[in-house]
Amino acid sequence: MTFPARVRVVEVGPRDGLQNEPGVVPAAVKIEFIERLAASGLPAVEATSFVSPGWIPQLADAEEVFAGLRRRPGVSYPALVPNLKGLERALAAGVEEIAVFTAASETFNRKNINASIDESLARIEAVAGPARARGLRVRGYVSCVLGCPYEGKIAGERVVEVARALLALGCYEVSLGDTIGVGTPLAARRLLESVAAACGMERLAVHFHDTRGQALANIYACLEAGVGVVDASVAGLGGCPYAQGASGNVATEDLVYMLQGLDIETGIDLPALVGAGRYICGELGREPGSRLGRLPDCRS
Ligand code: HMG
Ligand code: MG
Repeated sequence: MTFPARVRVVEVGPRDGLQNEPGVVPAAVKIEFIERLAASGLPAVEATSFVSPGWIPQLADAEEVFAGLRRRPGVSYPALVPNLKGLERALAAGVEEIAVFTAASETFNRKNINASIDESLARIEAVAGPARARGLRVRGYVSCVLGCPYEGKIAGERVVEVARALLALGCYEVSLGDTIGVGTPLAARRLLESVAAACGMERLAVHFHDTRGQALANIYACLEAGVGVVDASVAGLGGCPYAQGASGNVATEDLVYMLQGLDIETGIDLPALVGAGRYICGELGREPGSRLGRLPDCRS
C-alpha cells in the first residue's frame, strides 16, 4: 500500500458547517472560530459564502467576517461565489480565493442554485475569467458525485464531464462532493479513478459527507488511489440546506487522527484542532459530532 506522503486538508466547517445551522452564529464567533482553525495549522479554511442571503441567511454576514478576520500568511480562506454579484462582493471584501460550485445532477442544481448544469457552467465562466484576471485562485466543486437526493444514481461519465468543464474554465482543483453521503469505498474509489483518468489525480480533492458513516472508509480508499487533498469539517458540522437529510462532512479531527496513524503529514496540531471544534460546539450549545472531540483525554 502506498499513500501520499502529505495530504492537504481543506477545512470547510465555517462554510459548509455553519450554512446548515438553524440559527445564525454571530460574526465575531465565526471570526474566532476561523482564526482558531487557521492557528491549528490547517492550510485552507473555507470561511464563508457570498451567495444570496435569501437562500443562505446563515452566511449573510460574509463581508463582516472578512473585515474582522486576521489572516495568517500561508493560509488560504476561500469563499463560495455563485455568480457575478457574489464575485463583486468577494472582491470588495478582499477575498483571494473563491470556490465555484455546480453538480452532476440537474435536479439538485436547480434546487441549490436555480440553474441547470449548463447554465451554471455559463455563470462560472462569467465569474472565473474576471476572478483570475484579478489574481484570485478559483477552486471548483461538483456535488452529488455518488448520488442525488432527487435523482438517485448519478452516471460517473456526467461527473467526469462536469469536472473537466470546471478545470477548462480555470479551476486549479476540483473537489468531488458526496453531498448526501451515499458513497461506499469501492464506489468512491472507482469514481475518483475514472475522474482522475480524465483530469489528473493532482487536480482533484474529495469531499465526503458522513450521513451513513462511510466517510473515513471512503477517504481511506481514495488515499490508496492517490488523492492528496481532502475536505473536512471540524466537529462534523454541516450539510446542505438543499439536500434534505445530508449530515456534516467527515469530522476534521477524526480525519487528522487517521492520517497521522497512516504516517501522512498534514502540518496540523491535533489538540489545537480539537479545541477549535469544542469552541464552536460550545457556542452552538452541543457536543462535537467528532469522536475525538468527545474523548475526555483529548481535552485541550
Ligand atoms: P436566484 O434567486 O435565481 O437569483 O438565486 P437572482 O439572480 O434571481 O437574484 C435573486 C435575489 O438575490 C436578487 O435580490 C439578487 O440581487 C440577490 P432582490 O432583487 O430580490 O433583492 N442575489 C444576491 N445577493 C447577494 N449575493 C449574491 C446574490 N445573487 C443574487 N451572490 C443564486 C440564484 C445562485 C443566487 C441562489 O440560488 C444562491 O445563492 N444559492 C446558493 C445556495 C448555497 O449556497 N448552497 C449551499 C452551498 S453548495 C454546497 O453546500 C455543496 C458543497 O458543499 C459540495 C457538496 O457537499 O457536494 C459545495
Ligand atoms: Mg458539502
